[in-house]
Amino acid sequence: MTSAAIFLLVFLLESGAVRSLQPERDRASLLYPYGSDEGDRKTPKLDDGTSPKVSLSVPFTFYGKKHRSLYVNNNGVVSFDARVAQYTPDPFPLADGRPFVAPYWADVDNVLGGEVFYRETTQEALLERVTENINRYFPTVPFAAAWAFVATWDHVAYYGSNTNKGNTFQALLTSNGETSFIVLNYWDIQWTTGAASDGDPDTGLGGTPAHAGFNSGDETNFYNIPGSQSDAIINITMTSNVNVPGRWVFQVDDFKVTGVPTEAPKVADISNCWL
Ligand SMILES: *[C@@H]1O[C@H](CO)[C@@H](O)[C@H](O)[C@H]1NC(C)=O
Repeated sequence: MTSAAIFLLVFLLESGAVRSLQPERDRASLLYPYGSDEGDRKTPKLDDGTSPKVSLSVPFTFYGKKHRSLYVNNNGVVSFDARVAQYTPDPFPLADGRPFVAPYWADVDNVLGGEVFYRETTQEALLERVTENINRYFPTVPFAAAWAFVATWDHVAYYGSNTNKGNTFQALLTSNGETSFIVLNYWDIQWTTGAASDGDPDTGLGGTPAHAGFNSGDETNFYNIPGSQSDAIINITMTSNVNVPGRWVFQVDDFKVTGVPTEAPKVADISNCWL
C-alpha cells in the first residue's frame, strides 16, 4: 500500500466514516440519570439478594392489577408480591404466575462487582423526559408521566466470575395514575450466564443465558424479548421495538402490542416475532 493509501485509510477510520456503519449510541441519552447523586438507594451486597419491600406512593397498574409495592432483585428482576432469589431464569409465562418485569434475569453477583440502584421519583425534569419519550413511541396514547421508578444495574458481575465483566442496564416503570409503561434500557451487556447456570466462569457465556421481558402473572400477557435464553441476548444492546438500539418499551396497564422494526443490523426477525 502506498503511503497515500494508508493515509486515506487512517483518515477514514479516524473520521468515523467507517464506524458510522454502526448506529451511534450515547450513554446519557439512553440511560435515565441514576446513582447516589440522584438519591438512589442500593440493594444489599449479597448473592441472590433483594431490596427490602419498597412501598409506592402511586400504585402501578400491571395488567389490571394495582401494585402498591415492589422488590428490586439483584438477579435482574423487578417483582411484585414476592422477592425473587431464583438465579437461573425460566421463560415466560411462568407456571406459578409471579408478576415480573425482567430487564435481564440472570445470576448477578454484586459482591463480585457492580451496584444495583433504585428510586421512586416525581422529579419534574425526569418526568418531562419520560413523557417526551413515551409520547414519541406511543403517539396515539395520551400520557403525561406523574410518577416513575428507576432501577439500574451498574456494571454488575455474574456469579462465579473470573473476569471484570459487568452488565449495565435499567428498568423504568412509569404511570399517570392509570396508564403505565415500562422502559428497558441496555447500555452495556458483556455476559449472559452465571457459573451456577452452566455458564463458563472465564467468559460469563454459555449454559442457560439471561431472560428479558415481562410476565403479567395471568399466563396470557407476557413478552419474551427476542434472543432471551440464547447466546443472542448478548446483542440486546442493538435491538429495539422503538427504533432506539438497546431500548424496549411496553404499555403494561393492559396488553398492547406495538412498535416499529428495529434498525439494528444483523439481528434478524425482530419485527415479526412479537410473541
Ligand atoms: C451479535 O451481533 C454480532 C454483530 O451483528 C454478530 O456478529 C454476532 O454473531 C451476534 N452474536 C450472537 C451470539 O448472536
